[in-house]
Amino acid sequence: MDIQSPLKTIQFIRGGEVVALANVPPSRTLLEVLREDLGCTGTKEGCGEGDCGACTVVVGEAEGGRIRYRAVNSCIKLAHSIDGQALWTVEDLAADDGTLHPAQEAMVQCHGSQCGFCTPGFVMSLFGMYQNHVSKGQTITRELAQQELSGNLCRCTGYRPILDAAQQMATLPAVLVDEVTLLSKLKLLAQTRQGLGADSAYNAPQTLAELLAARAAHPEAQLVAGCTDVGLWVTKMHMQFGQVLDVTRVTELRRVEHYAHHIAIGAAVTLSDAFAALVTDRPQLQTFAHRFAGLPVRNAGTLGGNVANGSPIGDSMPLLIALGANVVLMSVRGHRELPLEQLYTGYRKNVMAKDEVLAWIKVPKPGSPHPNPLPEGEGKTPNAPTPSPHRGEGRGEGQELLRVYKISKRYDDDISAVCLALNLQIEDGKVLKASIGAGGVAATPVRAARTEAALAGQPWSQATVRRAITTLRAEFSPISDMRASGAYRSEVLGNLLQRFWLESQGLQQINLESFVLVEESA
Ligand code: FES
Ligand code: FES
Repeated sequence: MDIQSPLKTIQFIRGGEVVALANVPPSRTLLEVLREDLGCTGTKEGCGEGDCGACTVVVGEAEGGRIRYRAVNSCIKLAHSIDGQALWTVEDLAADDGTLHPAQEAMVQCHGSQCGFCTPGFVMSLFGMYQNHVSKGQTITRELAQQELSGNLCRCTGYRPILDAAQQMATLPAVLVDEVTLLSKLKLLAQTRQGLGADSAYNAPQTLAELLAARAAHPEAQLVAGCTDVGLWVTKMHMQFGQVLDVTRVTELRRVEHYAHHIAIGAAVTLSDAFAALVTDRPQLQTFAHRFAGLPVRNAGTLGGNVANGSPIGDSMPLLIALGANVVLMSVRGHRELPLEQLYTGYRKNVMAKDEVLAWIKVPKPGSPHPNPLPEGEGKTPNAPTPSPHRGEGRGEGQELLRVYKISKRYDDDISAVCLALNLQIEDGKVLKASIGAGGVAATPVRAARTEAALAGQPWSQATVRRAITTLRAEFSPISDMRASGAYRSEVLGNLLQRFWLESQGLQQINLESFVLVEESA
């Protein structure tokens, strides 16, 4: 670490008390701080990469006069990122007299733990579920429990008793967080927080102007926007950063703004919130949204981080390419806007200048061809009401026919071998426009431009699709790695286009998504 860079004292609220930690290096993870500095060994380390959920904790932030609770992976979360927030670990749930929290008691009653290594993480995901649903009187369905536990793996017990516990929580005596008191403590903390400015070794600016100035002053600083990938550089590659620039506190970039023809998603919007906004306009994306990593990763990672990181197997980019999204890059010199696929120049390389940051992702609404650059002073339009579940669906006649297919070894919480997003506009049986994004098949996320050309203007028929399949399989030369061979990837690309054709004709293949979860009978 650069000894010139001042280090802020981390302050957060845990168990109703302010915890202050001085001299924490910018690359130190929250899990390291918990286990090694605070001696809180209840939080476990399994994979160290956001895959298993053993390290799950819950963070709370003041948002709109309430506390927003998020279960996150402490193993890949930098400790400084919780400055000014509230934190709960598995050691913070039981009452002083030892009475277990419903999240714990339900696990005991349902026999949800065997070796116990995964249990603290499951309990914390259950606690997040309790705060976000049970405490608001919402029912925990089997499906919801499964979705919310998607980031937790158990090797021993099996998931049924843990899912039972999720549903059992609501039947136990309620335990509520005193949010009024916590909000006032968080407010007090915000007033006393140190601001060390652009030179700080861990700088989390609160305004866009501060962020751009800091980027210009320290272009070598490691940018983080949720840290769910950069965290692995620390835990797996043992990288240490002299200075970190965290975009997630920038007020302007924490918003999803709704305009007449597009939505603008700020780079600090979490993947959970970004997908929620995308699903509002396109309900058919719901399943795909739930298959992006696990909930703790979606709660910490951001859409901007996923896009800027540029991994060829990042799942959001094929979708955004198919939707015709643009990115807005900003610096103290001004801003520029370009189609998302033009951001990338090679494996994890992009066109961003050293002083630029990715600020916004602009996604056209269904039926809007391009996200026009924001006119000066453009006002917000109210959020559109949630459309019917089948909006944008059907046979694609005169409307958007959109599907995203993710091929991975595990259904939940896994990285794609291949991701293919297809977005066609079909009218009078003819393809008016084809927009196709692919991941896992090249050094960057890519647009399948040749396949698009093979489809555009053609009748929407099996013959056209057959020709397009040949084009798609030849368009890329995917590599072989531990996730899949190059030959498999090419083959599956074509198969997915065939599946898309069949689904457009009303044929539903049998696959995991077709299984409807049924409630356990008492
Ligand atoms: Fe596995 Fe953190 S230790 S997700
Ligand atoms: Fe052993 Fe879950 S109880 S890994």
